Order: sequence, then structure tokens, then C-alpha cells
Amino acid sequence: MGGAPLHLKFSAPPLMVSSVRKREVSKPNTDLAIPTDKIKNSTVLILGGTGRVGGSTAVALSKLSPHLQIHVGGRNREKGAETVEKLGKKSKFVEVDINKLDALEAALKDVDLVVHAAGPFQQVGRCTVLEAAIHTKTAYIDVCDDTSYAFRAKSLCEEAMEANVPAITTSGICPGVSNVMAAELVRAAREEGKGEPERLRFSYYTAGTGGAGPTILATSFFLLGEHVVAYCKGEKVKLKPYSGMLNVDFGKGVRKKDVFLLNLPEVRTAHEVLRIPTVSARFGTAPVFWNWGMAFLANHLPQEFLRDRSKVQHLVDFFNPIVRVVDGIAGEHVSMRVDLECSNGCNTLGIFTHRRLSVSVGFAAAAFVLAVLEGSTQPGVWFPEEPDGITVEARQLLLERASQGAINFVMNKPPWMVEMEPNEIGLGIHM
Ligand SMILES: NC(=O)c1ccc[n+]([C@@H]2O[C@H](COP(=O)([O-])OP(=O)(O)OC[C@H]3O[C@@H](n4cnc5c(N)ncnc54)[C@H](OP(=O)(O)O)[C@@H]3O)[C@@H](O)[C@H]2O)c1
Repeated sequence: MGGAPLHLKFSAPPLMVSSVRKREVSKPNTDLAIPTDKIKNSTVLILGGTGRVGGSTAVALSKLSPHLQIHVGGRNREKGAETVEKLGKKSKFVEVDINKLDALEAALKDVDLVVHAAGPFQQVGRCTVLEAAIHTKTAYIDVCDDTSYAFRAKSLCEEAMEANVPAITTSGICPGVSNVMAAELVRAAREEGKGEPERLRFSYYTAGTGGAGPTILATSFFLLGEHVVAYCKGEKVKLKPYSGMLNVDFGKGVRKKDVFLLNLPEVRTAHEVLRIPTVSARFGTAPVFWNWGMAFLANHLPQEFLRDRSKVQHLVDFFNPIVRVVDGIAGEHVSMRVDLECSNGCNTLGIFTHRRLSVSVGFAAAAFVLAVLEGSTQPGVWFPEEPDGITVEARQLLLERASQGAINFVMNKPPWMVEMEPNEIGLGIHM
């Protein structure tokens, strides 16, 4: 699949992974293999660049690859000017509304890669940015965290292949880096003969909103209005949102936290792409009363209410000021734990913890941008765990770049080596 030669506005150089391949993923390293001359002057447009995730991506990209031209896209000139000021001379603001296709295509002219961070992705009918990227032959990544949107994007795979456009959907931190962590655990288990991978569990924790923008609030409310899709021994099951609590040990820096089921795209992609029969994803936040509030909304508001964009916007307007105050106290730690269980009882995990979600999400998205610019991605639309999206050889460099500043990053270790209070997770839990 996807063997067509790259023919983009940029010419992709060969990957620089030979030295990186030998390194331990568990020891993040500051040698970031700065991109070669061929891509260092590429132009990247970040839609939603005036927001938290997009802005953080712009800053991380400017640090990882200072020669890149970075265009910040959004609807608000004032916010745009503020962001551009932080980025320096190689940056400019581009006024663009992602719902206006002509303006969008005009903004993509002379751009090598577009980052779509102008969420929310929930309850959106069309992948306008990806469509425009395909029409204008522009490489693409998004930070989508919605299953329907991600699979709608995937349905454009053939069009992207025909246009020779490489594209990755769900490429932020979680989903995104967490998918790559899962793919690496599964690859290692199969290669090292640890038995057949049977169960994969994604557990996420962020303190407050993790310093994210108001859009993340809307995203959370939309997710509470969706049945959770999980897989149990190959069967698709539908579960209640914010149910199925587990107390998960996130290791140093975060320790044990309660997490609850949510409908996240990496569950389906890990099941389908990595062929794991049992997969689920859970999320928890702090302070603990936000978890109670989320469970209350999931249990007491009708699902139709939580799927209505204007009603959800009212909820966001009401809660945003309170959330901002609490965020100031809660901090913005983020932690991801990916657990893999294999047929012979061999369990491995990956943990990624950073003090600031708003910073680490930028490095995560920037790591995907550089991987695509470096030629790791075949024409088509891919999920992060697909080798046509991020080649197996490029995963380690991607994880190194994404984990800049992480306070804990371990891969492929048994749980007892990284848990603060070992021996709890997994007992009697079937999903
Ligand atoms: N995959 C992951 O790891 C991950 C992690 C965190 C968040 N996310 C997702 O990232 C998205 C952004 O979150 P955030 O915290 O950055 O939100 P945010 O701070 O509210 O930023 C959203 C940005 O999108 C822009 N925007 C919205 N509608 C637009 C439109 N029609 N045209 C152009 N720009 C538009 C807004 O700009 P103006 O209003 O100024 O135009 C704003 O700058 C959310 O959907 C969230 O779920 C993904």
C-alpha cells in the first residue's frame, strides 16, 4: 500500500534514523536530528495557531527547526499578531476560516504542510482542511480526537494517494503519541516472542484542562454525549461514558489516579490496525470533583443535549470561567499509560508524563510535522500506528522529539518496574 513516489511542494529527503535506532526509548535524548537543508526552509501553516494546541505546536516547531517558515492561521487578527510576535521573523499571520473553502485553498498556496488544530472535531460534517490539502497537494496532519472525524478523514485515503499527498489524522499527544507507543509495545512483543498481544489499555490523566483552551471543554462535553466503543475479545461493545472506573498507577510525578471510559479514536484504530482483540481507553482529571461533575453530566443530561453544538457552547460559556480559576490551582500535569497484555501472561507498558500538557502537546504535534516533512509518510491518509503513516524506523525519533521536557518517559517495561505502588492494575479487569 502507498508505494507511490512522493511528489509534493517540498522534496522529502531520506530519513535520518540509523543512529537513532540504536537508542533506548526510555532515555529521551536531546539530539533531535535537526532536519536536513532540504526541509529546513519549508513552510508550515498551523490552523488554530492562535489557540493553545496550535500555538504550542508553532512554538515547539520553531524550537525544533528554527529555519521553518511558520504561518499562523485563524480568524482573529489580534490573537494572530500576539502569536506571531512570540515566533519571530520567520512567521506571519494568515486570516482564514476553515469553513470557507476558497479562502482555505488560497491560504494553502505555497505551503508545504498544514496542521489542523482548529477544533473541536466532534459533530463536524466535513473534513474541509483535508479536502483543501488534497486539492492543493499540501501535506497534512491534524490533532483530531474524534472517532467519526478520524474515520471520515481516513475515507479520503485514495484521493490523497492519487494526489500524492501524505496525511496523518489523530496526531497530537493522546491520540497521536499514545498510538505510536502502543504500536511500539505491540511490535516489541511480537518480535521478542512475548506471546500474542491480547489486551491494550490506554489510560490518560490531565490536571484540570491541562492548560488547554475552551475548545477542550467543548470536546469533553461532546464526548460525554457519545456511547463508548470498546472491544472485548474481538467483539465491539458499547458502554456508558465516564463509567468503568479504574485506579491506575501513573508512576512518578502523578502516582495513582481514577480514570473512566471515554469514546476515543485510538481504541478503534488500535483494534483494527494493530489487531488487538480487547482495547479500551480511559481518562481522568483533577481535582477529583471534576470527575464527579463529568460523571453527573454523563448520567443526567440527555445525549441529544450533549450533541447539540449551541447547547454545548452554553455549557462551555458557563463553566469556562470556573474552570480557568481551578486550572490555576490544579496545575497542568499530563500522563499517559499504555498497557499491553500478551497470551503468555507477559505484560509491558509505556508511560509518558509531562508537567505541562500545553507544552508537550506542541512537541507531540511538531514531532509528527517533522516526520512527514522528512518523508516518513506515504501518500494517503494514515493513523499514527500505521507504518505507511510513521515508518517503524521513524517511531523512535518521533518519540524522542515528542518527549522533550517529559519528567517520566519509559517504554516496554514490566509494570512492577515503574509503578509507585505495584501489583494492582489488571487484576480482575476484563477490558
Ligand atoms: N490529539 C491531541 O492530543 C489533542 C490534545 C489536546 C487538544 N486536542 C484538540 O485540539 C483542538 C484545539 O484545542 P485548543 O485547546 O487549542 O483550543 P483553543 O485554544 O480554543 O483553540 C482553537 C483554535 O481554533 C481556531 N478556530 C476555531 N474555529 C475556527 C475556524 N472556523 N476557522 C479558523 N480557526 C478556527 C480558534 O481561532 P479563532 O477563534 O481565533 O479564529 C482557536 O485559535 C481541540 O479540538 C482539542 O480537542 C487534541
